[in-house]
Parts: sequence; C-alpha cells; structure tokens
Amino acid sequence: MPSTPTIDSAARALAVSQRLLVLSGAGLSAESGIPTFREAQTGLWAQFSPQDLATPEAFAANPERVWAWYRWRRTLIARGGVNAGHRAIAALERHMDVVIATQNVDGLQSTAGSRDVSELHGNIWIDRCSECGDERRQAVAEADEQAPIPTCQSCGAGMRPGVVWFGEMLPMAALERARAELDRCDCVLVVGTSNQVYPAAALVEMAVDGPTPVIEVNPQATAVSPCVDVHIAEAASMALPALVDRLDAMRTAR
Ligand code: APR
Repeated sequence: MPSTPTIDSAARALAVSQRLLVLSGAGLSAESGIPTFREAQTGLWAQFSPQDLATPEAFAANPERVWAWYRWRRTLIARGGVNAGHRAIAALERHMDVVIATQNVDGLQSTAGSRDVSELHGNIWIDRCSECGDERRQAVAEADEQAPIPTCQSCGAGMRPGVVWFGEMLPMAALERARAELDRCDCVLVVGTSNQVYPAAALVEMAVDGPTPVIEVNPQATAVSPCVDVHIAEAASMALPALVDRLDAMRTAR
C-alpha cells in the first residue's frame, strides 16, 4: 500500500517516539480469518452471538456448546496464523520500545515476535480448572471437536477456556500494566477495536483524554475517531506495513 497523508502523519508521530503503547482488538486478527465479535457469525455459529457464549452462565448451562465454540475459534487461529498486521507491530520494535495491551486471546501478537504483550482478556490456548484454577497451556493446533471436555489433572473438575468472560474481572496485572504504560509511553496506537467493551475501552478513552498522540487504525470510525490525532481508515494488514515502511524510509533518510 502506497503512503497516504494519514500514513505520513502517523509515521511522523512515531518517528519522534521512544516508547509506543499498542491497544489492539479483534480487527487486528480479522485478516487471519478470525471473525470479530460484532460482525455476524457465520455457519454453525450464525445463530449465536459471542455475547451469548462467552459468559459463565453459558458455560454452566451448556459447557459442551461453549467448548465447541472455543475449539472452532482455536481451529481458525491455528489455520489463519499471524498476518501482516501482527508482523508490522512486531517490526516496530526495530525503532522503539513497544508495549502491547491486547483484548485478543489468540496469542498471535506474541507468535509474530512481539516481546511485551499483556493479554487483557486471557489466552484461548490455556485451559483453566473451573474449581481449583489449575492451568494447562495447549499447543497451537486445530482442535479435536469430538474430544470430551478436559478435566483437571489436580482435582478432576471440568476445565474451561482460560479467557475472561463477560461479567468477569480482567487479570489485574495485565490491566495495571496497560494503565501504567499510558503514563510512560509517548505515542499510542489503537488497532482494530470497536472500543465498546470496558475496562479495555477505558484505556483508549484515557489515551485520547491525555497529552500523548493517538493513532487509530480501523476501516470504520469508532466513538474515539473524532478525538484521535490520526485515524487511518484502512485495514490493519494494509495500513501497518505501510506505516512501518514509511518509518523505515524516514529513519533511513536521517
Ligand atoms: N483492520 C482493522 N480493524 C478492523 C478490521 C481490519 N482488517 N476489520 C474489522 N476491524 C474493526 C471493526 O471496524 C471494529 O471496530 O475491528 C473492530 C472489531 O470490533 P469488535 O468485534 O467489537 O472487537 P473488539 O473491539 O476487540 O471487542 C472487544 O469484546 O466480545 C468481547 O472479549 C471480546 O475482546 C473482545 C471484546
């Protein structure tokens, strides 16, 4: 993708940045073939909304259905893998310190090579005991849809996906880390989130209310788009590589 005035503006903000905070959401992984949460689901899951599946109540009522949905998403992640947007964010580490706070549970930003990723909503590759909290990390692989619900090796209770469901508390360490970075960073890059789910959305609001330049990458406008410094209305896998290329060119020209 050739540079554009918004890419140039964003690159200029990044060129003087030493420490970048990235706040990412499902749109960053959309081009890995992983449906976002507020677009209609397809196929078998068209009849369900994620909001009806990603809850403790849904799991208590029908753990098999909830496991089937997460296994379907695990298979999509394993098949889709890292995309150019994930790789571009990892590449920014050539130019500055990059801290990422993601709402995504797919683990793809770490797979892309980013070294400082806080997972605000947990990680889909972790099974967690619904009783004792014991955790088991699963290999990234297409899921066995027929497998029984996993049971805890410590206490024998049923395991659940190690993600944060609606109505549950976020991991405090991840959230506090993201909040602290708002004060330490000198640029914020918001990628692929509708900014509708709190407290993650509050991080974006605090960023736009603060003195730090905020760049938003989202083909759609969101509630914060009028308040950010640069809104790049492009897909992440197009805009982010173009941004890195522009930054590389500016740094080379120095
Ligand atoms: N590049 C960039 N942004 C994109 C792309 C893309 N290729 N495709 C879609 N988007 C944008 C959409 O315009 C939308 O604003 O990504 C956003 C996705 O919004 P949501 O589906 O609401 O996902 P997200 O903001 O991450 O949801 C937050 O809600 O369901 C819970 O826990 C779940 O972490 C999730 C949270």
